[in-house]
Amino acid sequence: MKKLPFALIVAAVLFAGCAGSSGGKTRIGVAIYKFDDTFISSVRLAIESNASAKAELYIVDSQNQQGAQNDQIDTFLSQKVKALAINPVDRTAAGVIIDKAKARNVPVVFFNREPLPEDMKKWDKVYYVGAKAEQSGTMQGQLLADWWKANPAADKNRDGKMQFIMLTGEPGHQDALLRTEFSMKAIDAAGIKVEKLAEDTAMWDRAKGQEKMAAFIGKFGDRIEAVLCNNDDMALGAIEAFRAAGFFKDHRSFVPIVGVDATAPALDALEQGSLLGTVLNDADNQGKATFDLAYALATRADISKTGWEIADGKYVWIPYQMVTKENLRSFRK
Ligand code: GAL
Ligand code: CA
Repeated sequence: MKKLPFALIVAAVLFAGCAGSSGGKTRIGVAIYKFDDTFISSVRLAIESNASAKAELYIVDSQNQQGAQNDQIDTFLSQKVKALAINPVDRTAAGVIIDKAKARNVPVVFFNREPLPEDMKKWDKVYYVGAKAEQSGTMQGQLLADWWKANPAADKNRDGKMQFIMLTGEPGHQDALLRTEFSMKAIDAAGIKVEKLAEDTAMWDRAKGQEKMAAFIGKFGDRIEAVLCNNDDMALGAIEAFRAAGFFKDHRSFVPIVGVDATAPALDALEQGSLLGTVLNDADNQGKATFDLAYALATRADISKTGWEIADGKYVWIPYQMVTKENLRSFRK
């Protein structure tokens, strides 16, 4: 290969840097709170597949550390990305991220972890793509309430109350807070009396869900009449713990467990009859909307022409859907 003069290479690199694009494609910086998260992996795949022909994505794993993510954002900005798509580690850190982006006039689309309203108001080039957490809580609660009413034997100690355990996601995450609150509200609205045996976080994680549930089974055993989990991975972990303790052998040792996300393994569990129900957290559309907005902003196009409805000038809300054994086929890919 003929060697190019050094000065020419430098000039070419500088030129690409100034243009903010290489090979003619617009650069977009994407930071993911951590790659090792089942649901978020699907969102990431959706962002990538929508970008493939149009933009050059710089995607990084923030490995659950906000400090690392802030540094990654600095790097993106020095790489002259034209827009940022950020899944924050700590949603209260959005303000700092917005300040950095605004200083360089690079628009930001946050997704999945909703910044606080006061941060969203800091700049008009800040958007959020997500789902209304309360809706998923309500659907999950309704699903369990319907089943409870149709199955009187579920009240194992016949005290007229549902003794339950709540496994929550990461503390402070809007989905953890609101799914917990609104699932309970839906059960209450259905006229069902409840008694909470225990509540603890399993950090969205399957192994932690299994661990925590194993301890609760050791403590409460047969007294547990239902389990609500803020996501499917924790629900699947809980099911494993119950299986290991001799449950899920027949309909009498069944325990109703509900999750959220409708991940592929959760749909399998639903089909097999271990998971009672879940709620579709629409990764495909969240990923698509995130990319479409970031791309429109990066290319200075009109975001109202992306086809996504923008609420309050800043928000794209992707609806949740209830998923049970009856309708699960339509959610298979
Ligand atoms: C939620 C999802 C969880 C987890 C979390 C990460 O929307 O239900 O499974 O992925 O986002 O922020
Ligand atoms: Ca009971």
